[in-house]
Amino acid sequence: MDRLIKWIEFPPLGDDRGSLVALESDKSIPFNIKRIYYIFGTKQNITRGKHAHFSLKQVLLCVTGSCKILLDDGDVRESVILNSPTKGLLIESFVWREMSQFSSDCVLLVVASEHYDESDYIRDYDKFKRQVKS
Ligand code: TYD
Repeated sequence: MDRLIKWIEFPPLGDDRGSLVALESDKSIPFNIKRIYYIFGTKQNITRGKHAHFSLKQVLLCVTGSCKILLDDGDVRESVILNSPTKGLLIESFVWREMSQFSSDCVLLVVASEHYDESDYIRDYDKFKRQVKS
């Protein structure tokens, strides 16, 4: 079983006007939603993220466009392409993430289980590796 790459499908509620996706706390999103943010207008050849979290969980999805997500649990490293508004990637705590290859139209939506808290970040990769081993 794939430990790292956890997809969540969001079935679109479509009719002849188009499509709609609803994200609900503790339902389609498997945690209590405390924060939503989105990343857009990312310049070429930029890598974002480069951190892990002690307790934060997130679901990432591209509302438009695409980007690449690298995940690393200190043991396994895997990359996936996010390119669908109906398919989210669940990132658990203690997973290092890097986002790159943003298309110019990419809007990366992030649904988070906690409010913003800098003390929850592990921004140093060596520290992350030590934390996951302990
Ligand atoms: P940063 O953590 O560098 O973004 P990323 O992990 O996507 O590369 O965040 C950029 C800036 O925005 C930084 O100054 C922290 C701030 N920020 C908030 O104030 N609230 C938030 O919810 C997030 C995600 C970032």
